[in-house]
Amino acid sequence: MNMDPLTLLLQPPVHHPVIPYVCTIFGGLRPGKMILVQGRVSGTANRFSIDLQVGCSTRPRADVAFHFNPRFSSSETLVVCNTLTREQWLHEDHHLCPQLRKGQPFLLLFLILEDKIKVSIEGQHLLDYPNRLPLCDVDTLGICGDVSVQGISFLCRNPFSDGDTEYPLCQPLKLGNVAMATPLSKPLPNGISDGHMTTVRGLASASPDDSLQFA
Ligand code: GAL
Repeated sequence: MNMDPLTLLLQPPVHHPVIPYVCTIFGGLRPGKMILVQGRVSGTANRFSIDLQVGCSTRPRADVAFHFNPRFSSSETLVVCNTLTREQWLHEDHHLCPQLRKGQPFLLLFLILEDKIKVSIEGQHLLDYPNRLPLCDVDTLGICGDVSVQGISFLCRNPFSDGDTEYPLCQPLKLGNVAMATPLSKPLPNGISDGHMTTVRGLASASPDDSLQFA
C-alpha cells in the first residue's frame, strides 16, 4: 500500500529542527499513529535518542514511555530501548542495528499500536517495544544527541487499508515532494454541502513566485 501523505498528515511536519528538539504530539499518542523521522547520524556519533515521553519537564524528569537510543561506541550499532518512570530506568532491551551507521542517512518509522510500538528502518522491521506506560499519557517527542534531522512527519495509518503489510510505505514529507506539487487537483468524494468543512494543509515554498489560489 502506498500512502498519500497529504491525506494522512496529522500535524505540520517539522523540517531541520535544532537538536536537542522537543515538540508536542498533537492529541497524544494513539494506536494507528505513525512518526516518521528522516535524519543522518553524525560522523563522530557516540549516541542519540528519540524519546516518546509524558510532557517535557526536566525537574523532575518527565517519564519516557519509549527511549530509542542507538549507541555507536562499539563496532556494531546497538539500539538500547527502555522506559523511564519516576526518574528510574526499567530493564533495557538491546537490538543490533547495522542499518544505522555513523555519517549515514536513515528513515525510521515508529508505528504505534495498542500494546506495542513497532519500529522500522528503511522500510524493514527493526524491533517491537511493549507499551509499559499508558499510551494516552504520551504527548511529547524529544530528540537529542549526535544526529541531524531533516524531517519529522506525524501520520496516521490508513484506516481503510487491508492491513496486509506490516508497515505502510510512506514517503517523508519534504518540500519538493511530488505529492505536494502544485497545481494540485483532488476529487471531493462526497461533493460539498452545507456544514461541510474542507481542510487544506501545505507548505509554502521558500521563495514563492505566485499567490496561492483555491478553486
Ligand atoms: C543509561 C543512560 C541513559 C539511558 C539509559 C537507558 O545508562 O545513562 O541515558 O540511555 O541507560 O537504559
